[in-house]
Amino acid sequence: MRDDALLQVDAIDVFYGDFQALFDVSLTVKPGQVVAVIGANGAGKSTLLRTIAGLMHPRAGDIQFVGAGIGRAPAYDVVKSGIALVPEGRRLFQSLSVEENLKIGGQSGRPGPWSLDRIYQLFPVLSERRHLPATALSGGQQQMAAIGRALMSNPKLLLCDEISLGLAPIIVRDIYAQLPAIVGDGMSLIIVEQDIAQALKAASQVYCLQEGRIALQGAAHELTRDAISAAYFGV
Ligand SMILES: Nc1ncnc2c1ncn2[C@@H]1O[C@H](COP(=O)(O)OP(=O)(O)OP(=O)(O)O)[C@@H](O)[C@H]1O
Ligand SMILES: [Mg+2]
Repeated sequence: MRDDALLQVDAIDVFYGDFQALFDVSLTVKPGQVVAVIGANGAGKSTLLRTIAGLMHPRAGDIQFVGAGIGRAPAYDVVKSGIALVPEGRRLFQSLSVEENLKIGGQSGRPGPWSLDRIYQLFPVLSERRHLPATALSGGQQQMAAIGRALMSNPKLLLCDEISLGLAPIIVRDIYAQLPAIVGDGMSLIIVEQDIAQALKAASQVYCLQEGRIALQGAAHELTRDAISAAYFGV
């Protein structure tokens, strides 16, 4: 493991039964860094985040987080160690209120700067709607609640799976505008995006997945549009 890494994904192979979804994937996140993972439909982006979050386990390779191997750890231990996932599709508990959803995120009991008050400061509309069921929220508000729920566990590393999917551009802009306030505490972020422009704007490092393999990686400001298109579409 590199000394300065917060997270080190080291040559993982991940399977769904006999189907191999990730091949020899490695990725490094340093403290305070925003890393983007981009790639076409089915490239393996969600599989990678789900594996880091402990919902799936690599058949080969390992994952180191703050110096400890977590590749075989169950998801609740991974959350306790400081990794939180904002899953694809938000997955709020629809019958619970906004506030109840947020409180579920706080159940890991990790101390840190994030609290209900702080989430409501970040997304004031959630405060106004705190007692309504999650179903009463718009798509953008649901995404805010899903991010807030993850932040409530006071993670050192936040994993965001396609937070802009299905949202109007202006809402996406509003949510991304809050990223500096989130990483301002030194938290690291992995964002999965199909919107390449958005990913390049928000992240300092970019990894492109193609059919389960890392096809390209580098500093966001060094990657050319042509190189990214080639890695993204395999052309
Ligand atoms: N539960 C599952 N069972 C079997 N195969 C799966 C399962 N989930 C995903 N896959 C397969 O694994 C591969 C990677 O899927 P994954 O969801 O990680 O891709 P993705 O990059 O997140 O795609 P998208 O942009 O559509 O969200 C795909 O070929 C997909 O069909
Ligand atoms: Mg996905």
